[in-house]
Amino acid sequence: MEEQLSLEFLRVVENGAIAAARTMGFGDRHKADEVAVEAMRKTMDAVQMDGTIVIGEGERDEAPMLYIGEKVGLATHAPKALFPEVDIAVDPLEGTNLCATGAAGAIAVLAASEKGGLLHAPDLYMEKIVVGPSCKGAVELDAPVSDNLKAIAKRLDRDVEDLVIIVLDRPRHEKLIADIRKAGARIRLIGDGDLSAGITAAVVGTSIHAVMGTGGAPEGVLTAAALRCLNGQILARLVIAKPQDAERLAKMGVKDHKRIYDTEDLAPGKKMIFACCGVTDGNLLKGVRFFGEGVRTTSMILTLDDRQVRFIDSVHLEKRADVRVRFY
Ligand code: FBP
Repeated sequence: MEEQLSLEFLRVVENGAIAAARTMGFGDRHKADEVAVEAMRKTMDAVQMDGTIVIGEGERDEAPMLYIGEKVGLATHAPKALFPEVDIAVDPLEGTNLCATGAAGAIAVLAASEKGGLLHAPDLYMEKIVVGPSCKGAVELDAPVSDNLKAIAKRLDRDVEDLVIIVLDRPRHEKLIADIRKAGARIRLIGDGDLSAGITAAVVGTSIHAVMGTGGAPEGVLTAAALRCLNGQILARLVIAKPQDAERLAKMGVKDHKRIYDTEDLAPGKKMIFACCGVTDGNLLKGVRFFGEGVRTTSMILTLDDRQVRFIDSVHLEKRADVRVRFY
């Protein structure tokens, strides 16, 4: 599955990213998301799979495309037996505001696994802590912030003062930010995008050592899919803010609301493909560049079973007789 579908999923995220990037800076986050969804959905139709969206744009009645439970792939037009069954999680535009304002870090994302390989997370918040391979097993979700920072620093053989922690810039993180500052670590506050931040924390040499705080649960599952492939760790717990949240969870069969999910609980699949493409420039990926005769994209494709991490620089040329490829 991984070998067969990786390149097809590359095209899916590239097309989503290109469509979104065309709207960069227009100040319309909904439009940016809508065109990314349409482009991804259209490209997915040609993928040789019997796919089911398990994390997408919302419930069937609130999203016209890529809704939870939607069937996608060539199997919707051809006999199913021919194609592998695949569960798919998408965030066609992570960082809708980032794209709408032309800020750094927007990406188009897809994760795929065999049936049951990705947790069907509701669209709630999740408390999260994300670390890279060296710090796996060193942190706890309920430990005091200063203890986690000391543990990370010890594993990385440095002082707490040398650490950089990414936190979403939200009022709910006031205490977390104060605790990190008190412990002496440095902080990079971001406007949006704790999923791409999580991937960054799992790659050595990015100068980001952890992500802490509360963000979307779907983003948590996508982060876990990437971290399975990068050998990092995410610990997370759903946030129940109102009685309706508890009801939704009960409907989805989640009994233990206080459960702490580890990376393998969020993305338990044996086979895993994670694909993302930069929309605007970010820490790991360049954003989409339009150069008249074509478009250039940078993407990352991760696969679990064969342990491949591919950074892919694609030039998509216009269908014109006079096109030239430049070496930058
Ligand atoms: P969008 O892609 O929907 O714009 O969400 C971006 C994001 O910042 C995620 O990265 C994060 O998990 C979540 O939103 C945080 O939610 P909120 O903006 O409600 O704090």
